[in-house]
Amino acid sequence: MIEIQELRKAFNEHPVLDGVNLTIKTGETMVIIGRSGCGKSVLLKHLIGLIAPDAGRILIDGTDITALAGPALDKMRLKFGMLFQGAALFDSMTVEENVSFALHEHTTASEAEINQRVEECLQAVGLERVEAMYPAELSGGMRKRVGLARSIAMHPEIILYDEPTTGIDPITGDSINNLIIELRDRLKVTSVVVTHDMKSAYKVADRIAMLYNGNIIQVGTPEEIRGSASATVQQFITGQADGPIQQGLPARRALSRWFRPRRRGGI
Ligand SMILES: Nc1ncnc2c1ncn2[C@@H]1O[C@H](COP(=O)(O)OP(=O)(O)O)[C@@H](O)[C@H]1O
Ligand SMILES: [Mg+2]
Repeated sequence: MIEIQELRKAFNEHPVLDGVNLTIKTGETMVIIGRSGCGKSVLLKHLIGLIAPDAGRILIDGTDITALAGPALDKMRLKFGMLFQGAALFDSMTVEENVSFALHEHTTASEAEINQRVEECLQAVGLERVEAMYPAELSGGMRKRVGLARSIAMHPEIILYDEPTTGIDPITGDSINNLIIELRDRLKVTSVVVTHDMKSAYKVADRIAMLYNGNIIQVGTPEEIRGSASATVQQFITGQADGPIQQGLPARRALSRWFRPRRRGGI
């Protein structure tokens, strides 16, 4: 369903995606893991044409989305639902207005049909009686659910999740994991989940791909990733400070800058 081919993107001469190749099958949940700042969100935004690549193609059911613009791109985007990092709700709109936004924009459905659809979507994510509330009145987990309700409103074939469990407590996070699984099973959607939360990755993934230094360095089932022979993959999935993945500044050196022994008479 989604074929990413030799995707390249640099910002200010700094390559973020350096020839990414990845195929995502219809109906599967692909989890993309990698460190903060490694380009996961940038990769997701390419999938729906929010960022244009420097080179490479992304085929969605055989159509290269990177070559589309205007109405053709808008039409292609309707296949997607996206849960942005931090949910990205409109703060000045109620939950109902947030969830129904695309329905008003892209359909000719009646007010009654739209209300019905909003209710269905909120129910699907386990929310009730929140229609009139504003995002600021909701907890982080509820905001993610509203974002998810909004992303399924248009019956997408593909749902993209950017860090769905980041910034919420582990129990709420796990209920979001369950929702991702449920939506895959019930709506038969293809899902792409970007995360650095390995617990979530193992739970929701059919396959996991690791993004590192601009490339997908391994793709496999959760078991295959757990048993990876790559020291880089092992360091990431087990969360070790020491290993082949470069750190910003070696911790000891950074510390010694601050705690340099004072010379007599100095400051
Ligand atoms: N619009 C942009 N302009 C310049 N640099 C960007 C832009 N978007 C992302 N970057 C850079 O690309 C890198 C990858 O970012 P991102 O995809 O957000 O990482 P993450 O894996 O944490 O989601 C970062 O170094 C970030 O600063
Ligand atoms: Mg990100």
